[in-house]
Amino acid sequence: MRIKNDSYTRLLFMQEKIIILDFGSQTTQLIGRRIRELNVYCEIVPYNKFPFDDDSVKGVILSGSPFSVNDTDAFKPDLNHIKGKYPILGICYGAQYLAYLSGGKVEKSDSREYGRAHLTKINSSDPLFDGISGDTQVWMSHGDSITTLPGNFEIIASTADVAVGSYKIKGESTWAVQFHPEVYHTTDGTRLLSNFLNICHSKRGWSPVSFIDTTVTELRGQLGDDKVILALSGGVDSSVTAVLLNRAIGKNLTCVFVNHGLLRKNEFENVLKDYEHLGLNVIGVDASQRFYNELAGVTEPEKKRKIIGKGFIDIFDEEAHKLEDIKWLGQGTIYPDVIESLSITGHTIKSHHNVGGLPEKMNLKLVEPLRLLFKDEVRRVGIELGMKENLIKRHPFPGPGLGIRVLGDITPEKVEIIQNADDIYIRILREYGLYDQIWQAAAILLPVKSVGVMGDERTYESTVVLRAVTSTDGMTADWAHLPYEFLAKVSNEIINKVKGVNRVVYDISSKPPATIEWE
Ligand code: XMP
Repeated sequence: MRIKNDSYTRLLFMQEKIIILDFGSQTTQLIGRRIRELNVYCEIVPYNKFPFDDDSVKGVILSGSPFSVNDTDAFKPDLNHIKGKYPILGICYGAQYLAYLSGGKVEKSDSREYGRAHLTKINSSDPLFDGISGDTQVWMSHGDSITTLPGNFEIIASTADVAVGSYKIKGESTWAVQFHPEVYHTTDGTRLLSNFLNICHSKRGWSPVSFIDTTVTELRGQLGDDKVILALSGGVDSSVTAVLLNRAIGKNLTCVFVNHGLLRKNEFENVLKDYEHLGLNVIGVDASQRFYNELAGVTEPEKKRKIIGKGFIDIFDEEAHKLEDIKWLGQGTIYPDVIESLSITGHTIKSHHNVGGLPEKMNLKLVEPLRLLFKDEVRRVGIELGMKENLIKRHPFPGPGLGIRVLGDITPEKVEIIQNADDIYIRILREYGLYDQIWQAAAILLPVKSVGVMGDERTYESTVVLRAVTSTDGMTADWAHLPYEFLAKVSNEIINKVKGVNRVVYDISSKPPATIEWE
């Protein structure tokens, strides 16, 4: 199979937008999400890929960066055709770079700041600080400071330690802030970004409803009477993609949902029912045994991922060949995946196989209706499409499923143990109202046994690890500080009810340096 990736190579060409030039900061995506939350469409592009041919750009934001402007390999694009032409907001490195370009001085100094700081001297008559006054909390993260500003630059806010907290270039629509308005800890960050959008005269028309309307119309135009096949995973992204495509082309969409035997307990049956209620045309394929056979004796995580990925593609291909006249492959790619693939600094730590990733022999074109959306927008679109909260709010679940949560070799018996433990864990998380506060929770089966005692008997059985993390995007994560009482209940119930387990432990590692999954 061969995929032709010629659709949507451009994002929304004519849509009014803010461009965020990415200098590699960890918070660049957050800037994008904040702007979208303010109902303005924006796109994140690498620092040197400004879309000069796009007339619909209303303003430009320069992100932070892991570099110092004084580093030899720092990103230093030519901004001559941007400065003065569009309203600009420089953030952190963006602020330092704009100052540096005009001859200002940026130096490592004693007054660097990490974490909370307070803006004290604010010029509230400046449109960027409209409605922001007094002593407002901001989030700083800089080792360098701007120590000398060029003559035509005017300071509009300071902190006790840093004189240049924010500045404006006189006679230009260029502003900059040393702090991070996109971070929640910056109390008036949203207000400041909204003020910048006012400066840009951006219309606030971007919303899930407007997205659904325009996308359904576009999909109808793009697909006509063509038939589309899509792999469902039970996750939010592929499910919302399916419902959106279904709204656009109805029965011309066929979905395939494969059970690789590594799903959560009863997940295959339950999710299949949900899909049928949504009116989707779904082929459910139970291939558990085939996967168990292929995985027998394999212990290396990346090898497991490859076997599961290939098995999945083979089955999907077989199903696709049973259908006639399929022209398109639908995929649940979302905006962070698109940004990642464009990224200047991204690198892969684990090879993440996403469902359908990818049938290469099939002569199909790719349709990815969510590729403009952040995860929270996908959820809002799902709700707007009438999908049930349990499908929309579910935790992310990896494509290889429990295959990477049974450490070491996989057997149907071990899968059953972890399915039962996971089922108890997730149920009690919901009972305690904790499920929605957590980004992702998992039970993991360790390949070691330890001694225990039950009644008068010595036991020698397996250990289950409970993992729960908080996160906004899965890129970084903290272990969730779950109540002891809750952990005690889960541990007790797992040890009493799941045969083969005599010990439960809780993982207190953050990412980095650990990862969310154990394999
Ligand atoms: P890590 O373990 O890298 O996980 O911190 C980050 C997020 O990615 C998910 N994950 C995967 N998803 N295929 C997937 O589709 C994979 O092979 C895979 N490995 C990890 C993980 O569950 C978490 O949400």
